[in-house]
Amino acid sequence: MIAHLRHLKRLAGRGHSRLASSASTSYLIDQPEYSFLKELGLERNNPGVYSGQWQGRGPTITSYDPGSGQAIATVRQGNVQELQQTIGLGVEAYKQWRQVPAPVRGEIVRQIGDELRKYKEPLGKLVSLEVGKIYSEGQGEVQEFIDICDYAVGLSRIYSGQLINSERADHTILEAWRPLGLVGVISAYNFPNAVFGWNAAIALTTGNSVLWKGAPSTPLVSVATTKIVADVLRRNNLPPVVTLCQGGTDVGQSLVGDKRVNLVSFTGSCKTGQDVGVEVQRRFGKVILELGGNNALIIDSSANVKMALDAALFGCIGTSGQRCTTTRRIIVHEQLHDQFVASLVAKYKQLIPRIGHQLDAQTLVGPVHTQQNVDNYRTTIEEAKALGGTVAFGGKVLERSGYYVEPTVITGLAHDTSVVHRETFAPIVYVLNAKNVDEAIAWNNEVEQGLSSAIFTEDISQAFKWIGARGSDCGIVNINTTTNGAEIGGAFGGEKATGGGRESGSDAWKQYCKRATITVNHSGELACAQGVVFNVE
Ligand code: UN1
Repeated sequence: MIAHLRHLKRLAGRGHSRLASSASTSYLIDQPEYSFLKELGLERNNPGVYSGQWQGRGPTITSYDPGSGQAIATVRQGNVQELQQTIGLGVEAYKQWRQVPAPVRGEIVRQIGDELRKYKEPLGKLVSLEVGKIYSEGQGEVQEFIDICDYAVGLSRIYSGQLINSERADHTILEAWRPLGLVGVISAYNFPNAVFGWNAAIALTTGNSVLWKGAPSTPLVSVATTKIVADVLRRNNLPPVVTLCQGGTDVGQSLVGDKRVNLVSFTGSCKTGQDVGVEVQRRFGKVILELGGNNALIIDSSANVKMALDAALFGCIGTSGQRCTTTRRIIVHEQLHDQFVASLVAKYKQLIPRIGHQLDAQTLVGPVHTQQNVDNYRTTIEEAKALGGTVAFGGKVLERSGYYVEPTVITGLAHDTSVVHRETFAPIVYVLNAKNVDEAIAWNNEVEQGLSSAIFTEDISQAFKWIGARGSDCGIVNINTTTNGAEIGGAFGGEKATGGGRESGSDAWKQYCKRATITVNHSGELACAQGVVFNVE
């Protein structure tokens, strides 16, 4: 209760004293402080299904602010029947959309990017509010969607196939990339806007329609983002090439199992992702899996330690440890280990007064997303201690309303301890003491996941070893920068239990296409390849 009052006082201190009278019973959306939600077209109760019209006949879900525990607004989710209708409409929309020239599709994506620029401030604030990430990270997430729109506009004019030499005279082999059809995007709570954006911008540009199911605990971001996109489609008299169906497990399973969804792009845990992968394969659908990470930051003896400490801070604590690219292990050269831990702990101490509500300007460490994250944090720390780990910093759940935990550093565990090999979505990092870079690379690679990794070194031979075949086995292999916060220009994703999918830049667009190999005979006579003779006079 005291914590609750403190929260109200804090808001009042920012000029929101009217909150105090109704805070425990009302929705944040009704309070003047949160008028930005209305700018996004949100209401107290929102339909969570869009297929040209807004509806929602499934269970109503309440979205909560993890920073205060207060209700923001509600969303009426879809049921399985609505999902199936939405799939049907998405398939119909695809049939028109694939006829639209790619650069014209790019122009629509450009308009989506422009619209996002207009709404960046309130939408980014909603991302912060609903996920729990701090203001600048909420803004950064929308920026990531804007960036991929820009990328996709360029892509729409340059993505292409090739012309291959044929072994037969007067034959030509062409390779062309065609859309797949309907792309299902299932996104997670930690990046409720950008991950949809990466998939949608590229899938649309390459001629697919998109059906989105956002995480059940971030439904307002799904609704607000879809409204922005739907408005662009409406202004251009387009069919619903982007649709949304918020829902629970039944809706998710139905989407994954439906043959009409040609590609399922799934972001989430390794366990669920594996089930999704098997289900989609069972029906010969395509899949992009973007699953867990257990990302290591290696500090070589030659490292620029000041820079490495800053990287560790953002890597371990940014988004309160809830990025799939969060630094979960720091592997330090034995010459630097003790000093590094001491300096890291000193930095962590400075962050304690910066723990707070995600929308407070001075906050650097927001809440974790739900009670479940808090429970996992607590269990993991207990387990680490039981296994002989030392809590060098943090380790406690904060007694205040909302879901606040102390960023935590654990030392003294062996590199292959069960808890070190597990991804816990919370700001906990294990610092490991390694003899040299070779040992550090072996430890980096021994976990099941293979998403992101980074080394801090000034030694060119260690750097090139790290990025070579004997180096990191991850999808993201950085030098002298963080494990998290990748730009959109490169392909994003990882190996092994991370699922192998690639999203975003580089040639990740190919995953949203089918490849046609086209042999054209312009010789006037039939000739078989490989010199095979097969004819009768
Ligand atoms: C995720 O956590 O699922 O590289 C995505 C990053 C962000 C994306 C993270 N650009 O940290």
